[in-house]
Amino acid sequence: MEMLKRPRRLRGSEVLRKMVRETRMDKASLIYPMFVKEGSGIIEEIPTMPGQFRYSVDTQGEILSKLQDAGVKNVMFFGIPDHKDEVGSGAYDPEGIVQKALRRARKDFPEMYLITDVCMCEYTSHGHCGVLCGHDVDNDRTLELLAKTALSHVEAGADMVAPSDMMDGRVRAIREMLDANGHYTAPIMSYAVKYASGFYGPFRDAAGSAPSFGDRKSYQMDFHNSREGIKEALMDVEEGADIIMVKPAMAYQDMITRVREEVNVPVAAYSVSGEYAMVKAGASLGYIEEERIISEMAVGVYRAGADIYLTYFAPEIARLMDEGR
Ligand code: PBG
Ligand code: ZN
Repeated sequence: MEMLKRPRRLRGSEVLRKMVRETRMDKASLIYPMFVKEGSGIIEEIPTMPGQFRYSVDTQGEILSKLQDAGVKNVMFFGIPDHKDEVGSGAYDPEGIVQKALRRARKDFPEMYLITDVCMCEYTSHGHCGVLCGHDVDNDRTLELLAKTALSHVEAGADMVAPSDMMDGRVRAIREMLDANGHYTAPIMSYAVKYASGFYGPFRDAAGSAPSFGDRKSYQMDFHNSREGIKEALMDVEEGADIIMVKPAMAYQDMITRVREEVNVPVAAYSVSGEYAMVKAGASLGYIEEERIISEMAVGVYRAGADIYLTYFAPEIARLMDEGR
């Protein structure tokens, strides 16, 4: 048999396989999401996310130094306040938990790039991502509070803000507020392509942010939709978004590819809490090999077209990248 084309020729050795690799990854693109909590001396493991912890401002240095040592320079803060109310005032309080964590991190870790999640759900008594009007989230009244929150984060030392609430018009409201206060250089990474997802379950335990009634389907997207995600992404870019995020990552790689092709800004993908929890659970039962799965999930996202990867596995992936795996 005469066979001129033999794809196996390029798979013959590790050296050759690495030479012809199509996807190469860089630690500079990793963002580690972390939880900071009101109080002191706190390092508590999150039951539904084994290996992830809530820190208080005085202990957050532990994880920040570990990240720095691992070569991960970018973090995203989520806050767990002491006090919640109807209007989520802890979100935009200059003495709020994220604001305090930012000031401390800015001082102790000047090299790190500090990003904040901008949303109301960790701070509202009802757990929704905005203020309510009856049983519905009042879009336009929420915009003002989100903008105030973003401004207070930047004023406390955030380099970048990442709104995750899915209200209409929030990128513009935030951009205008930041610009009106002279913060032209702080980029906005918009959670534009964000789906109403069961994959956020462990996060809501971690942050105590599950809605007390109903769900988030009137603001987060229906997961059956693809073109709607592109509409959201294009609108957010028009409103001034600098980076577009797709979330979750693993079950939404088609959206990473579409945004990559159809929207001309960097694309971020967020491998969310449920993805992390599934890997941890499967590995602890011996059903899967944790490191191999982590690598494949990460490479999958980059191969799909992501420029930036948010993951709770960031320090592990940094090491796997160094090892060329
Ligand atoms: C806040 C927010 C959520 C996540 C990021 N920002 C929760 C939600 O929308 O319910 C999810 C992150 C994760 O699951 O890891 N709106
Ligand atoms: Zn929210």
